[in-house]
Amino acid sequence: MRKNIIAANWKMYKNLAEANDFFTFLIEKLPKTKAEILIAPSFTSLWHAFETTREYPVEIIAQNMHQEEQGAFTGEISAAMLKSVGIQRVILGHSERREYFGETDATLKAKVETALKNDMKIIFCIGEKLEQRKANTHFELVQHQLQNALFQLDKNDWQHIVLAYEPVWAIGTGETASPEQAQEMHQFIRKTIANYYDLETANGISILYGGSVKPTNAQALFSQPDIDGGLVGGASLDVDSFIELIKAI
Ligand code: PGA
Repeated sequence: MRKNIIAANWKMYKNLAEANDFFTFLIEKLPKTKAEILIAPSFTSLWHAFETTREYPVEIIAQNMHQEEQGAFTGEISAAMLKSVGIQRVILGHSERREYFGETDATLKAKVETALKNDMKIIFCIGEKLEQRKANTHFELVQHQLQNALFQLDKNDWQHIVLAYEPVWAIGTGETASPEQAQEMHQFIRKTIANYYDLETANGISILYGGSVKPTNAQALFSQPDIDGGLVGGASLDVDSFIELIKAI
């Protein structure tokens, strides 16, 4: 079901003590909201974060996982390992995973299938690079990312998927897509899903925007009709700023 969501992606920031400070403060000041609050710390903080927040309306999620159930994959983490520390949801397809760790649509398709098989929910990221936007191929690219990794799914699987549109040129650059640019793409994504599946499926999906979301621009983005919240990197690391983002949704 379509929900408003504010999700923090901490990337490779915050050790255990820093994560603990953040959660202690957040719990104390947690604003009331109907939106879902999701936070993705590093693997080493997952269990502690889960334990610290389990009584509160905050869901701890993972930034990544491997597509195989288990095996000789040094340095990797499986769905079952995540579930064993209370994690029920994983971010897949982030542009940094695609760019720096060679994750292709085919890898991501396999990861999506493994996550669903393990009853995990997914935040799936899509989005174009600057050169693709300049060449006006951004709609086509996003459509391919959806088709290649997600359109093998059954209609029912979509209830476990949240999408995050993150134009790569706006991630960590301070340059945000304008609310109109973001809305235009979110609407396109919903239409693409409606065409391939149906309107009910398309209207049931939460689509988050990501890319330099901050307290000063959040409201304008989140108030767009097809934007259901944000996936936030930099501005989620500071607890006061994250609280402002929760209030903006
Ligand atoms: P940013 O990152 O908010 O720092 O631009 C967003 C993301 O990568 O999810």
